Amino acid sequence: MISLSHLIVPLVSFILFIIFLSKWYCNPSSTSRKRLPPSPPKLPVIGNLHQLGLFPHRSLQALSKRYGPLMMIHLGRVPAVIVSTADAAREVMKNQDVIFSNRPKLSIIDKIIYDSKDIAFAPYGEYWRQVRSICVLQLLSNKRVQSFRRIREEEMSRMILKIRHLSSSSASYINLSDILVTLTNDIICRVALGRRYSDAEESTKFESMLKELAELLGTFNPGDYIPWLNWIKRVNGFEARVEKLARWFDDFFEGVVEEHRNRKKGETNLNDSGDETDLVDILLEIQRESNSSSPIETDTIKAVIFDIFAAGTDTTYTALEWAMAELLKHPKTMEKLQNEVRQVAGSKLEITEDDLEKMLYLKAVMKESLRLHPPLPLLLPRECTQDSAILGYDIAVGTRVIINSWAIARDPLSWENPEDFCPERFLNTEMDFRGLNFEYIPFGAGRRGCPGITFSIAVNELALAKLMLNFNLALPLEATERYCDMTEAPGNTVTKKFPLIVTAHPCSC
Ligand code: HEM
Ligand SMILES: *[C@@H]1O[C@H](CO)[C@@H](O)[C@H](O)[C@H]1NC(C)=O
Ligand SMILES: *[C@@H]1O[C@H](CO)[C@@H](O)[C@H](O)[C@H]1NC(C)=O
Ligand SMILES: *[C@@H]1O[C@H](CO)[C@@H](O)[C@H](O)[C@H]1NC(C)=O
Repeated sequence: MISLSHLIVPLVSFILFIIFLSKWYCNPSSTSRKRLPPSPPKLPVIGNLHQLGLFPHRSLQALSKRYGPLMMIHLGRVPAVIVSTADAAREVMKNQDVIFSNRPKLSIIDKIIYDSKDIAFAPYGEYWRQVRSICVLQLLSNKRVQSFRRIREEEMSRMILKIRHLSSSSASYINLSDILVTLTNDIICRVALGRRYSDAEESTKFESMLKELAELLGTFNPGDYIPWLNWIKRVNGFEARVEKLARWFDDFFEGVVEEHRNRKKGETNLNDSGDETDLVDILLEIQRESNSSSPIETDTIKAVIFDIFAAGTDTTYTALEWAMAELLKHPKTMEKLQNEVRQVAGSKLEITEDDLEKMLYLKAVMKESLRLHPPLPLLLPRECTQDSAILGYDIAVGTRVIINSWAIARDPLSWENPEDFCPERFLNTEMDFRGLNFEYIPFGAGRRGCPGITFSIAVNELALAKLMLNFNLALPLEATERYCDMTEAPGNTVTKKFPLIVTAHPCSC
């Protein structure tokens, strides 16, 4: 590790040198014809990086209040346009979607996922189109999500049993965050890989792998923005961690693919009854059927499975955790929801996924929670592939585009009392998160929008309903202040900083 004091002298002299150079070389005529979006003043070298802070969605919202819906900042050497209103977002993600559908190259992603052979970070083009279409049509379609219904219901039952058990044992408080992480990880593992990893011997390794991934994705790597600082990641251990994780993942997924290949060989005459088929099976099947004109490499399979974990686990869990946190903080809302769920369950005292259609308030609660707490407040970054214009401003090719969906969903011009948690606002409205209402885009929109919406909503709605049906949940009476803390933790996916600690009483209604 290098201490800060060693850095200060070279850094300061370098900055002075740059200021000196820019005074000499600055050529105002080259940009005078362009009408650039307004920008806050920037520092040499680092640009506006120092203004992002630990919670960029909040800092950028504050800046946009001064500089407008479309604002230009500099992340070191990288020019970036920040989109902060529904109108500007519609322009980027709908009217000019084709131009804004690229993703920037990030060094960590390239290392871990086979040169961005996945979906989320593949550059816009033929490869991405093919892999995404496999994902949308074969892996995450409504029909496929339906086929995993049994897995969801089994895992929910396990969760309920676990909470029952904990609530009857001596421990009076339950770490609900822990239970929800396990639930979402187990479901995604079974769907993607065919089995749970939480109670296998590999469990600690697998869990720490996912944790390390979330941490590294959320780590700021200066070298991505200021090329001459690229050495930092070698010195502070970042690169070594990324390489270790990449090897870990590769070994793990190699093993998974191998296991599936062998299993298929041994069970050729087995009856494929649909829900025993997991996503790796499907990808291997597609690989077998593909021909030389459109081959699917094993690296692609590994990268797609990787994506499902990277894009699907943290986000789904976080959405559920925030929804529960809001409900615990608003007992009246929770009671109303509980009444709805118990009424639909009626005398059968049980609910299945079919019942969710009747639970309009439940859907509104989920939507409202995603409005206030979108797990990816800045979506995923995009990059512009040709010169264009938005809202009258010129945007140059290669500019990064960051959409502040968090700020958009709290824009007082679109929302009444935007800071209040009020599920009622989603009753009697067509407003949805599927990318048609640009005031509300927790899953993004357009070609690059999230293909996992149906998947994650199926998990989250059922989990909420089951919890409401089976338990009376509350914050512990003492120190409620602390337990009801809604502070965010820094990172790419914005999770709660403090875990949800609750008391649970099984209800015998
Ligand atoms: C509550 C849960 C989730 C949230 C809030 C969420 C949110 C998002 C967002 C904001 C994007 C970027 C959209 C854009 O750039 O316009 C995205 C992309 C993506 N999501 Fe999700 N997601 C969730 C769950 C899932 C799940 C469960 C999966 C898979 C099983 C998934 C797979 C993906 C993939 C593959 C992409 C990349 C799409 C592309 O670049 O073409 N997501 N998601
Ligand atoms: C609760 O569970 C989370 C997630 O597993 C964990 O990070 C946290 O340390 C736990 N907190 C307590 C107080 O047990
Ligand atoms: C395959 O499954 C179907 C129904 O799921 C059943 O009717 C059929 O007998 C099974 N065939 C074999 C060979 O097990
Ligand atoms: C190869 O695959 C493409 C598209 O998947 C298909 O159109 C073509 O007919 C296939 N060729 C052969 C020889 O199977």
